[in-house]
Amino acid sequence: GLYNETWRPQIHYSPPKGFMNDPNGCFVDNNGTYHLYYQYNPTALVAGNQHWGHATSRDLYTWENQQIALYATEDSQIFSGSIVVDVNNTSGFFPNQNNGVVAIYTLNTKDEQVQDIAYSYDGGYTFIEYAGNPVLASTPASSQFRDPKVIRYGETWVMVVSYAQEFVIGFFTSTDLKTWTPASNFTHGGLLGLQWECPNLVQMPVQGGGPMWVLVISINPGAPQGGSITQYFPGYFNGTVFTAVDGAARITDFGKDNYAGQFFYGIPGTEDQVFIAWASNWQYCEEVPTGETEGWRSSMSIPCSTLLANVTRSGWDMISTPLPFGQLYVSQQPLAQNYSLGNSSISVSYPDVVSRAIYFQCEISGIPNNTYSQGTLNFTFSSSQTHENVSGGFFFGGDNSFWLSRQNVQGFGETNPFFTDKFSVANPINSNGTFVLEGVIDRSILEVFLDHGRNSATMTFFPQGELDMFELTTDGLNEGVSVSVAVWGFNSTWA
Ligand code: FRU
Repeated sequence: GLYNETWRPQIHYSPPKGFMNDPNGCFVDNNGTYHLYYQYNPTALVAGNQHWGHATSRDLYTWENQQIALYATEDSQIFSGSIVVDVNNTSGFFPNQNNGVVAIYTLNTKDEQVQDIAYSYDGGYTFIEYAGNPVLASTPASSQFRDPKVIRYGETWVMVVSYAQEFVIGFFTSTDLKTWTPASNFTHGGLLGLQWECPNLVQMPVQGGGPMWVLVISINPGAPQGGSITQYFPGYFNGTVFTAVDGAARITDFGKDNYAGQFFYGIPGTEDQVFIAWASNWQYCEEVPTGETEGWRSSMSIPCSTLLANVTRSGWDMISTPLPFGQLYVSQQPLAQNYSLGNSSISVSYPDVVSRAIYFQCEISGIPNNTYSQGTLNFTFSSSQTHENVSGGFFFGGDNSFWLSRQNVQGFGETNPFFTDKFSVANPINSNGTFVLEGVIDRSILEVFLDHGRNSATMTFFPQGELDMFELTTDGLNEGVSVSVAVWGFNSTWA
């Protein structure tokens, strides 16, 4: 049936057909409807001919496809950008309404990238391109100047936009969204790679304190693991200048499939911000096998709620956790659970979960905070047909590494050299000796969240058989370590 192809995620957004990349124009409207636009080539399975596709949701898991919002022409494409709600009609486009929507995006032509705007009278479904475009160009003209993200700061608009090959994020201000004044630059922070793309500036709550600011910069190509990666800088912003707390490069995800993420406009800075990313990597996104057999390429990540915390030796961290699943479970009752696992294992086969989308949560406590900690905790999702699996686990002791693997999956991963098959991260020793692991698996995507979301990873995979078994095993743990685990099934949100 519709959206029920073998690799089609059932609680993640993916386009009806064609090629998708970056999330664009994310905003929540006055009625609480979330709007997601995305880089979209509706006519091919590779990038090019970029439009803005559009989908809406009440909960960010259950999506309704809308008509394409912005169209490429023969010689210009609509590249990434953002949306704001012009409540006070600062633009003058909306004399009779307080829910006017303005899109700010890059127009890409063969000679130049410039920033254009388009306005919508109907809350973001259809747009009219502004006659005075472009609203911002680079002098001299640049073919690498893109991805404007606009936010409201007091009585002004602030834009961050990337001079991609110069490793510069430009900050501009405006009172009307049409005239933009340069305010400052942020340059050469953290990782460089070969290009900077898709900057985001967002005010974010802090665990146990007042809000701070975060500047997010996507890098492609040239990530340490290859291809695309996203880094962020916690810091301070005074309306014109952003100052990072330190010079460190921090990454949003230790996998290889979380790129060009965007924060939703319209959420107050005192509330957890909501982040959604493109779950792929420019190194292989145009080759993944969903293209040939199912006619679509790429899904979005799970929507995450984010806040800042400063409780480890390495300083500020962005904490990401999945938005609550609420009504999405097949039943509020777990499929399987064991709250005192000890050194043993739990397994559950779930052929009855029609979506084959699963959430598991596991808490390990009592790990000694010293050199005597030992043992492992491993999980697998496997196929009873083909014995393929994706897996991961903690290796306690030392740096408490966590690893993730898509090595035991046949097909694409065996032939594409850039589809890296293992990822890992070190977990700063947690003073109370507790390790929380959460995972969401959804046919061709797995996301894990460690230590209440301090580290997270997104990993896509394309097995030949359906994964229908979960197993979690602990071994060699010190006495007194306790392990609890529970597993839930999801209903498909496309049903
Ligand atoms: C990031 C990106 C953006 C650009 C868009 C084009 O993935 O390269 O910089 O606007 O994709 O589709």
